[in-house]
Amino acid sequence: MRMEHAGFTLWFTGLSGAGKTTLARGVEAILRERGMKVEVLDGDIIRQNLSKGLGFSKEDRDTNIKRIGFVCKLLTRNGVVAIASAISPYREIREYVRHDIGSFILVYVKCSLEVLIQRDAKGLYQKALSGEIRNFTGISDPYEQPLHPEVTVDTAVESPSQSIAKIISKLEALQLIPVGQEHAVYSAKEESEVEERLRALGYIS
Ligand SMILES: Nc1ncnc2c1ncn2[C@@H]1O[C@H](COP(=O)(O)OP(=O)(O)O)[C@@H](O)[C@H]1O
Ligand SMILES: [Mg+2]
Repeated sequence: MRMEHAGFTLWFTGLSGAGKTTLARGVEAILRERGMKVEVLDGDIIRQNLSKGLGFSKEDRDTNIKRIGFVCKLLTRNGVVAIASAISPYREIREYVRHDIGSFILVYVKCSLEVLIQRDAKGLYQKALSGEIRNFTGISDPYEQPLHPEVTVDTAVESPSQSIAKIISKLEALQLIPVGQEHAVYSAKEESEVEERLRALGYIS
């Protein structure tokens, strides 16, 4: 059932392959299940349309983040939960969108470089290490860690379900989303639905 609720922006930042898209999609599924209006703005998809043609200089990265932030602001003020997943490596521009949007929750998707290089789901780290890809965040381009994120997940040690549960608990504690009916963070039914969706999208096997 659709419910009236205030909008907010849930912003995922972290290195490539850290788990931003996986967690954004997992949280999206749970919020929809709880009757909320949700929209995901994924960096990789935004770069194919809204930010098509932008590169990876600091200026272009900042422009990309400002555009995503602008759309999040429009959605947020219209009662939608806007979920952004983009590397967003620069602190100053993250703080800019936070203040511009107002109701803003930052999730730091942390993962050690060692694990990311080992994981290398998209083969990008190999290319970055060999120099085939330049300006690659974490290897040959800066990443400024958030100083005061509302939530930090460490995907080198947590499973996707554990990280998702942590984020959902925080949103419940901040009274931004309705508490799940069960005492558990989310029900077995919700958990299996999320896993099913992540599997269909190819994020877990
Ligand atoms: N706790 C976790 N949260 C999210 N992803 C995880 C976690 N643990 C392992 N992974 C795996 O890490 C990869 C993250 O990929 P993806 O979500 O595309 O990253 P990003 O969008 O940050 O580039 C997936 O293969 C996912 O299954
Ligand atoms: Mg992604």
